[in-house]
Amino acid sequence: MHFQLLTLLAGALLAQAQLPPVGPDAWTEALSKATAALAKLSQNDKVSIVTGVGWDKGPCVGNTAPINAIRYPQLCLQDGPLGVRFATNANSFTPGIQAGSTWDIDLVRQRGAHIGAEARGCGVHVLLGPAPGALGKNPHAGRNWEGFGADPYLQGIMSSETIQGIQSQGVQATVKHFLANEQERNRETMSSNVPDRPLHELYLWPFADAVRANVASVMCSYNKLNGTWACENNHLLNRLLKTELAFPGFVVSDWNAQHSTVASAASGLDLTMPGSDFNGRNIYWGPALAQAVSASQVPLARLNDMAKRVLAGWYLLRQDSAAPPQINMKAAVSQQSHRDGIRAVARDGIVLLKNARGVLPLKKTAKLALVGSAAVVNPKGRNACPDRGCNEGALGMGWGSGTTEYPYLVSPHDALKRDGNVVALHASDSTSGVASAVKGADVVLVFITADSGEGYLTAEGVAGDRPNLDPWHNGNALVKAAAEAHGNVVVVVQSVGPVVLEGVLGLEGVKAVVWAGLGSQEMGNALGDVVMEGGVGPSGKLVYTIAKREEDYGSKVVSGNDDFREGLYVDYRHFDKMGLEPRYEFGFGLSYTNFTYGGLTVASTATAGPATGKVVPGGRADLWDEVAAVSAMVENTGGVGGAEVVQLYLTLPSSAPETPVRQLRGFAKLKLKAGEKKAALFNLRKRDLCYWDVARQEWVVPAGKFVVSVGASSRDLRLVGEFTAV
Ligand SMILES: *[C@@H]1O[C@H](CO)[C@@H](O)[C@H](O)[C@H]1NC(C)=O
Ligand SMILES: *[C@@H]1O[C@H](CO)[C@@H](O)[C@H](O)[C@H]1NC(C)=O
Repeated sequence: MHFQLLTLLAGALLAQAQLPPVGPDAWTEALSKATAALAKLSQNDKVSIVTGVGWDKGPCVGNTAPINAIRYPQLCLQDGPLGVRFATNANSFTPGIQAGSTWDIDLVRQRGAHIGAEARGCGVHVLLGPAPGALGKNPHAGRNWEGFGADPYLQGIMSSETIQGIQSQGVQATVKHFLANEQERNRETMSSNVPDRPLHELYLWPFADAVRANVASVMCSYNKLNGTWACENNHLLNRLLKTELAFPGFVVSDWNAQHSTVASAASGLDLTMPGSDFNGRNIYWGPALAQAVSASQVPLARLNDMAKRVLAGWYLLRQDSAAPPQINMKAAVSQQSHRDGIRAVARDGIVLLKNARGVLPLKKTAKLALVGSAAVVNPKGRNACPDRGCNEGALGMGWGSGTTEYPYLVSPHDALKRDGNVVALHASDSTSGVASAVKGADVVLVFITADSGEGYLTAEGVAGDRPNLDPWHNGNALVKAAAEAHGNVVVVVQSVGPVVLEGVLGLEGVKAVVWAGLGSQEMGNALGDVVMEGGVGPSGKLVYTIAKREEDYGSKVVSGNDDFREGLYVDYRHFDKMGLEPRYEFGFGLSYTNFTYGGLTVASTATAGPATGKVVPGGRADLWDEVAAVSAMVENTGGVGGAEVVQLYLTLPSSAPETPVRQLRGFAKLKLKAGEKKAALFNLRKRDLCYWDVARQEWVVPAGKFVVSVGASSRDLRLVGEFTAV
């Protein structure tokens, strides 16, 4: 016992010693090592550190050449946000949107660590994720599912946890896409023209968390920002990222998002990837950069700075002393603990939207009929479509570069036939035959889907962004056919984002709706855990609004440039401002038990005025000071155990310029046994109280009364308190 404990402690200490440093000073040592290394490098070495070797010219999606003088390896950059792309013995983690909807920072941190461990096992130096850069202002946008939900606070916290998880494994994380890449349509030509205040309060916000978490790199996006390409945008890269947020690491281009030699260098790009276009042409750096430096078009100091920043990431993650293994996308890195973690995220991200007459959970003996092609794995194979660019069979992730090969896929049918009593399977989206299939069942589960992805692939005519918010494959008709034939229908939705459910909610026979989201390889097990008696039960909450009508969102994918006219009013901020009734609001989710709220306490030391602290990675240091503490007691008053996501929304005083009615500024997930009571604790940082003052170009705490609302969703606010900043 004693010996075991000592061994454990020794193991923990060893692990600790190898961990990258944390906190605002974490970069100091890495930057000084990088500066020292520069002295040993020729100009060509420096150019080759900052230039990819060209598309398809190495083992990873991005590669640079090794530098023997400093034993710098062939750097491997690999997608992506949910695991190692193209790896054959790695796991398909749940997409960011599912991780977000767990609202569980421990699970999200663990997910990051598991992803990082697999990336390291494959020899990856730089993993291209997380992806909070699509905030989701447009519910149709193709890549929203790669991020954590339509709120900057949530995106920021989850990005920070993910980065710390990935980097705890000695792998450099890359936060992307920088910035305002809110649609796939024309993403390589359009300009996002973003007013300064929403730019700071919504789009830049999660990147501040990422820089604060010491992310090694930031990927600039394909689109233009205010008319200038993101990867050669001085305001975006030099001013906002490197000055205002004091980002010490490197800016890497999205693949082929570079458009110039000198302008990109001058404007803050540090590493070009993959180093050419996808035909091996248009090489903007490499020899062209060397020439530009020789001709003094790019100062040598800038080249040194680029190389220093790229090297600093390598040193920060101790990849010089503890090198990852040989690059090998076939390495066996999948572990049972990772698969258990994937199941937990898939499960706890499921949101129960409706449960009339307690139809759920299902008794083990209940005779189940399953309807819909999404109940089973795509008969052509789980990985039949490259980069998951089709919607056939069970849907566990969207499509594009942010995907992986499924090592296996447990479909709903696989899990329910094992754990329940499946008497009929109609694995088709055709309505014909549904009535006869469901006849002998006690409960009918109908599976419907909505898919989207990255714009380089088109599935069923959808080129990335969804054209509407309806279920695919005429899912409304499928549900209707089942509900006309049976009075006990459970609708299970596998989706990348909001779907308008009005077509199914009005049907008498629809008793329950389970928002399964995107459960990746463990989706079936996760669903079983939630819907079967004796399982874990649902505990996820929506990370976006489900509207009654598509038009209600107030923002949509555009054909030309986007002026971001909705300003600060994205998702629930828009519904609240307009007084629109959503069908299911942001933060909503049911459980199998009841929670009561009470005992609110609020304490604050906040003072009004601008942040004035020293600028450290993440922005002014005092923005991160905790200036208010809130607590609430939550009791499980129902008959079974469960977990509640307690949410805190803040309303700024009227002295602030026009601001959303309330904004998410805290959340805590409490696991409570029947009858158990716990405190939800929230610490508000100064930044949580601020608005961005466009004239002063500072974050400012407005003077006056702040209203704190604590509740079960953005509309189900159970407790209200206040504090004052003077
Ligand atoms: C970017 O464009 C928006 C919308 O036209 C404008 O409000 C904002 O001031 C511009 N930002 C910069 C830095 O020029
Ligand atoms: C939750 O409370 C409602 C009304 O207060 C009650 O009808 C319902 O049965 C309770 N549910 C559980 C699971 O205890």
